[in-house]
Amino acid sequence: EKGGFDSFMEKEIHDQPDAVAQTLLGRSDTAGNLVLDELRIDESILRSVDKIVVLACGTSAYAGQVAKYAIEHWCRIPTEVELSHEFRYRDPIVNEKTLVVAISQSGETMDTLMAVRYAREQGAKVVAICNTNGSTIPRESDAVLYTHAGPEIAVASTKAFLAQITAAYLLGLYLAQLRGNKYRDEIAAVMDDLAEIPAKIQAILDDAEKIKALGTDMANAKSVLFLGRHVGFPVAMEGALKLKELAYIHAEGFAAGELKHGPIALIEEGQPVVVVMPSPHGRDSLHAKVVSNVQEIRARGAVTIVIAEEGDTSAEAYSEHVFYVPVSPALLAPLLTTVPLQIFALALAGAKGYDVDQPRNLAKSVTVE
Ligand code: M6R
Repeated sequence: EKGGFDSFMEKEIHDQPDAVAQTLLGRSDTAGNLVLDELRIDESILRSVDKIVVLACGTSAYAGQVAKYAIEHWCRIPTEVELSHEFRYRDPIVNEKTLVVAISQSGETMDTLMAVRYAREQGAKVVAICNTNGSTIPRESDAVLYTHAGPEIAVASTKAFLAQITAAYLLGLYLAQLRGNKYRDEIAAVMDDLAEIPAKIQAILDDAEKIKALGTDMANAKSVLFLGRHVGFPVAMEGALKLKELAYIHAEGFAAGELKHGPIALIEEGQPVVVVMPSPHGRDSLHAKVVSNVQEIRARGAVTIVIAEEGDTSAEAYSEHVFYVPVSPALLAPLLTTVPLQIFALALAGAKGYDVDQPRNLAKSVTVE
């Protein structure tokens, strides 16, 4: 049942090309329009939405943070992402014009369920993005967009994360489509780019030996920092979470721009820092700023490990290790840059001899508040 792999987690990492492909399947017609039939919310209500609030926990919240960049760009609808357990304890502003997007792999996370109930009481419409058919959160939502990642057994979420980003992107593109033709060409282009993602993930998986070896070599690391910017920021957070969960070592993700506001004080000789390079196709200045972050931390003795796009050799001179992922548009990069971070955490935890499928103290569904 592990498909020849040593762990469910490894299998699920390898399931990712399929998880993304299945989540995209059947969601556009021949004319290139997105069809989300399962989204049973009246189109006029969806057109009148003036705010989106994404509610989720853990990895699912990072998927929401990635999606925020894309949804605001495509739809021009203000989008907030909030941890479900913080949301209803702060008198949040939600009403009939708010669209809540509840992201949950299991569909049973109690914190998210309670937040969904609260949002609906305030009149908001709720769309669940969920991986588990018939689970509680979709049952209690107005509509559901299923991620078709297949069952995720390992406690640490991998393929569900990529499928959640994919589904949230589909939702964003659909809302943009409903709002008029202005973005028509861009939507069609993004759908084409998304269709190419599974093969690109496969290429990363086929070429994973180097990152695996690095994870194994770093089994004695006491702490690993992760830096990212723009959509790479939540990817950095996710990379750090994987390492905490699986390898039980201190790991922290930062927005690279925040470095000089404090975290750079942590950098000392030998401190490993993983940097998720922004796409060179995004805003140029952003890319250049992260290159100079890499220089700054290297100059202070950090061991720099860079995840960059093929052809982007800008950080090579300042990096101990560079791992390349295939070229993609900036907003789609998280579907690729996350994968080496998962493989890294898996290899590091494996080298320490830990049970990667059942990390200590954790449960697959957190059904208590
Ligand atoms: O089932 P959910 O997506 O609602 O779960 C949310 C979190 O508990 C979950 O993502 C958790 O952070 C994972 N262990 C991450 O690997």
